[in-house]
Amino acid sequence: MSDRYSPPPAFAARARINADTYSALGLDRVSDDDAERLAYWSHAAEALTWRSHWHTLLDWQAPRARWFVGGTLNATESCLDRHLSTWRRNKAAIIWEGEPLQGERPTEVRTLTYQQLHDEVCRFAGALQNLGVETGDRVCIYLPLVPEAVIAMLACARLGATHSVVFGGFSAEALRDRIHDSACKVVITADGGARKGQIVRLKDTVDQALSDQRTSSIRHVVVLKRTGHDVKMVPERDLWWDEATANAKPLYQAVYVSAEHPLFILYTSGTTGKPKGVVHSTGGYLTGVSRSYRFVFDHKDQDIFWCSADVGWVTGHSYVAYGPLCNGATIFLYEGAPTHPEPNRFWDMIERHRISILYTAPTAIRTFMRLGDHHVRRHDLSSLRLLGSVGEPINPEAWRWYHDVVGGGRCPIVDTWWQTETGSIMASPLPGLTTTKPGSCMKALPGIDLCVVRADGTACDPSEQGLLVSRKPWPSMMQTVWGDDERYRQAYWSQIKDPVTGQPWYFTGDGARFDEDGALWIAGRVDDVVNVAGHRLGTAEIESALVLHPAVAEAAVVGRPDEVRGQAVVAFVTLKADQTPSDALKAALAKQVASEIGSFARPDEIRWAGALPKTRSGKIMRRLLRELATKGRVDGDLTSLEDFGAIAALQKDDES
Ligand code: WTA
Repeated sequence: MSDRYSPPPAFAARARINADTYSALGLDRVSDDDAERLAYWSHAAEALTWRSHWHTLLDWQAPRARWFVGGTLNATESCLDRHLSTWRRNKAAIIWEGEPLQGERPTEVRTLTYQQLHDEVCRFAGALQNLGVETGDRVCIYLPLVPEAVIAMLACARLGATHSVVFGGFSAEALRDRIHDSACKVVITADGGARKGQIVRLKDTVDQALSDQRTSSIRHVVVLKRTGHDVKMVPERDLWWDEATANAKPLYQAVYVSAEHPLFILYTSGTTGKPKGVVHSTGGYLTGVSRSYRFVFDHKDQDIFWCSADVGWVTGHSYVAYGPLCNGATIFLYEGAPTHPEPNRFWDMIERHRISILYTAPTAIRTFMRLGDHHVRRHDLSSLRLLGSVGEPINPEAWRWYHDVVGGGRCPIVDTWWQTETGSIMASPLPGLTTTKPGSCMKALPGIDLCVVRADGTACDPSEQGLLVSRKPWPSMMQTVWGDDERYRQAYWSQIKDPVTGQPWYFTGDGARFDEDGALWIAGRVDDVVNVAGHRLGTAEIESALVLHPAVAEAAVVGRPDEVRGQAVVAFVTLKADQTPSDALKAALAKQVASEIGSFARPDEIRWAGALPKTRSGKIMRRLLRELATKGRVDGDLTSLEDFGAIAALQKDDES
């Protein structure tokens, strides 16, 4: 079996970037040379619509990068207005398919052209303005994956308000924390969403989140009618989406903001109990997403591009909304679960809508693989021409299945590595150019620097695993952690430095290696972050949720490899002395996590621990727990362990 896949000649011949254009455009020289790199980004930024041009391309004082200083723009002009004066005015911007609600109506499909999307955005921006939202305010979006989610994001941007989208799977507690942290003025939600034939009661969750002083910044809740079930509307505070837009004067004139103006905040897990509000700029962010979309997904006007992520995650921000729209692409959106009502749901939609590019996560690919090839083979997937993967390492077996069964051996695969913090794709094959190895994201994109180093900053040798860093700023890099610049410096810029100059480098939190051929292999997180089904979870967040339970004295959470979901969560829990372990208590603890964070964070396994293994300085030795959870025993170095008894007891439990 070949372990290298070169771009199919028919694909390469028509690709935006192939061997000819790559060198003709000078892309081969970009990453090594500072001046070339800056020229590359300047050129990429020119493709956006600016109100006024920047005077300084980059002002770099690590870790503060100011890109396109002096430039002003509005994100929605690049995503919408610019297409209206071209033939794309009547091109579909969004094709959306809903999930049928408990079989009561046929699958609903809605199409919005660029003109229609533009008008909806202007109308809703006018509505937000009526509600008192001003440039610089924060607006929370808690919606199912319906076109209004994209409309709401863009409407905020039209006004220069900063959106904070919270994934609809987060609990009331998690929503409350996020609203509080960035003091949002308005929440945009729906009565409910459809998921696996059930209604997800979003409005109820919002009401619960707002039943607390910490969310007193909220003036209004705008509610989209989606599922149509009864919800409580609080007079003065709550109003329906349709009411809000009915009387609004559309905001045709966009509000111009500086390139550095925060377009959005997106919360993501880190190594402490509190999620970080990652702040992204307007000009730099859009430059990164529009260029990477164009090159990595080989943008063609005829494409129908489906990124299956929810808008609640960064992938949904960058490659459901901003990247494709900047390029005038047609995006496909699907509201529901991948295997509902039948395991062939994805393939059925690809066939019916003639989708040409699918961008999804390894966990979904592995799920489909388990369900069996016949669900895929029943459908005509000949419209597909390119496949993408994101969110976690893809194992070569799943890669080959994706390539052979879904792609019919004809579609290149782009395995894209990036993070909430990086804003846009950092490493990926270029599908018309790169000979790809299954499981490797291959190479940093033009304009991006990635390096694998040892803890002291010296470069690793080929095949030596180390820490993945970026030594140079890039336009779509995060700007700060909302309200906590010190945390930004500490979390990303304090661990690794240039061994010669002492200049700090951006540390990704991932372990990686370059192989002998220079292909990049991501090993996964080296910090206390786990990646379950492509969802990033901080082990400390789950631990804080567990210790809130009155029966719990202490908890340690680790990830163990899981065949389908990449990683699974195992929690080791020490109960208070007067508590008795029971299955009912385990269930209560799982529920506690679901209500603090969301059901998707529930531990897969809870294990009682008489004591947790600690170092002499009192730090929990998660490495040992990880080994125990994975292999059922501990082989590693135990010399720093304070009390061998703790681990011996856990090991004994495992054997019994
Ligand atoms: C992991 C998602 C291997 C990685 C866009 C990173 C990947 C974290 C890949 C960021 C990939 C993402 N191969 N690992 N192609 N893509 N990761 O912030 O550990 O939700 O640090 O962003 O996912 O997750 P986040």
